[in-house]
Amino acid sequence: MDLNSDVEKVLISENRLAETVRRIAQEIDRDYAGSGYKLLLLGILKGSVVFMGDLMKQIKIPVEIDFMKVSSYGRSTVSSGSVNILLDLYRKDLAQVDILVVEDIIDSGRTLSYLCEYLKLKGAHSVKTVTLLDKPSRREVEFTPDYVGAEIPDEFVVGYGLDYAEQYRTLPYVGVLKPEVYNA
Ligand code: PRP
Repeated sequence: MDLNSDVEKVLISENRLAETVRRIAQEIDRDYAGSGYKLLLLGILKGSVVFMGDLMKQIKIPVEIDFMKVSSYGRSTVSSGSVNILLDLYRKDLAQVDILVVEDIIDSGRTLSYLCEYLKLKGAHSVKTVTLLDKPSRREVEFTPDYVGAEIPDEFVVGYGLDYAEQYRTLPYVGVLKPEVYNA
């Protein structure tokens, strides 16, 4: 079975993704160089893994990496969205750490808005966010990421870590899924 044949169009090509990742890495290098704190790239499983892997290779300043896993409930309903932590961050030196949360996509904004508050309460020196993709038209809570790869329209995107029913994460580009795939 060819996963590519379920894709209606390529939204962001492999080359454009590589350029985007290099651009963001340069911004991070510039902003955190000589900060005096440890920089921690904190990937949110699972969607961020491909972006995280490529991004960390392009960042020149010293960084540490870690991961958290969360699950959202009620994302389709405006009032009941809440976030559950399935894999937490455990370290004792957070006061010396600048956290940069790495996401593949922001939709309602609930996941990152919750996580940023949570990580600040845990005592991180600073908490910022980077997302490869942003769908501002889908926001349910106010949230503005610090670094953005690309703003995209409200289309069903897969690839480069993003899934539909746990498939398509391995595609090397970001594509729009054919409606007949998820309407089947
Ligand atoms: C996606 C994405 C974010 C969240 C964004 O994760 O990776 O974590 O949804 O949505 P929000 O802005 O509405 O909170 P998902 O729950 O699909 O899990 P996955 O990363 O394991 O695919």
